[in-house]
Amino acid sequence: MRVLTGVQPTGKLHWGNYFGALRPALDLQEQHETFLFIANYHSLTSLHDPETLKRNTLDIALDYLACGLDPEKSVFYRQSDVPQVTELTWLLSVLTPMGLLERATSYKDKVAKGMDATHGLFSYPVLMAADILAVNAELVPVGKDQKQHLEITRDIAGKFNLAFGETFTIPDPMIQEHGAVVPGTDGQKMSKSYNNTIPVFGSAKQLKQAVMSIVTDSKELDDPKDPDTCNVFALYKLFASHEQQEDLAGRYRAGGLGYGHAKKELLELATDYFAPMKTKREELENNLDYVDEVMAKGSEKAAEVINPVMVSVRKAMGIN
Ligand code: ADP
Ligand code: TRP
Repeated sequence: MRVLTGVQPTGKLHWGNYFGALRPALDLQEQHETFLFIANYHSLTSLHDPETLKRNTLDIALDYLACGLDPEKSVFYRQSDVPQVTELTWLLSVLTPMGLLERATSYKDKVAKGMDATHGLFSYPVLMAADILAVNAELVPVGKDQKQHLEITRDIAGKFNLAFGETFTIPDPMIQEHGAVVPGTDGQKMSKSYNNTIPVFGSAKQLKQAVMSIVTDSKELDDPKDPDTCNVFALYKLFASHEQQEDLAGRYRAGGLGYGHAKKELLELATDYFAPMKTKREELENNLDYVDEVMAKGSEKAAEVINPVMVSVRKAMGIN
């Protein structure tokens, strides 16, 4: 099965991103022909600071490689390195009804929140359709918020096939609902917009500070505690084996365990869990030529798949 997903480079990786998006994307490479790309053109619809965009783009490449993306198994590339995709965006846009884009809730929400209503923001879903259709992806893993964009992609692909003959595979979304929402230090969904994140690659001090700031109830040390309503325990579960979870849950219920102690155990597990990735990331930071090479090879591999698709698209439309 050919699977494709894109990720916007949006800043420092946190536990929510890791367990909610990065890990599930990496699991795919074991079973499928996987295309994973950094959607830096999409990011330009909201980010107009060149240094930040550059840094974020590199960061996300480092994060994925450090966390286990295998460039032999996945085709990993930057959207901007495959300009055929932007060419396809235009070719698709001539078939995309205004009404389809006007109904996009993501666009309306972003404008309501104060973002400039630019043409780029409006046509964001057409660029996304081009990302997907350029490789004829069959399955597209996305979060719930992207479901409508997938419907728009399917719609555009169908219109193209009808107008110019069968050219594109109609992709199916794979909505990641099973991945539980990772709570932040205040118990709300972990998100950089809420300032409640715990970084994956922060310093030991930053990690400790964040873990120690996790909000708990005010039970005394000796009181029995409920693991199922505790933020510390919810985060502990992400890292712990079944036995470790049972053990800590038992000590919660028995009383005599302070939240400070539970936080320390969480900190230890998380530190060990991310240690090899941290080391790998430091190695990569010192070998940026290797990272460049990986991205260059990735875009070449993507082009090998995309070029023949573009030949049929141009031919079908009468462009030679
Ligand atoms: P943020 O909310 O910090 O801005 P993004 O919107 O950049 O995060 O998230 C990128 C992806 O990471 C999302 O599409 C989602 O799949 C995943 N993700 C982010 N936060 C969480 C969370 N708290 N729990 C689970 N998944 C999350
Ligand atoms: N819009 C997606 C997001 O914000 C990122 C993205 C761009 C994407 N192109 C894609 C995801 C193609 C899947 C397929 O999360």
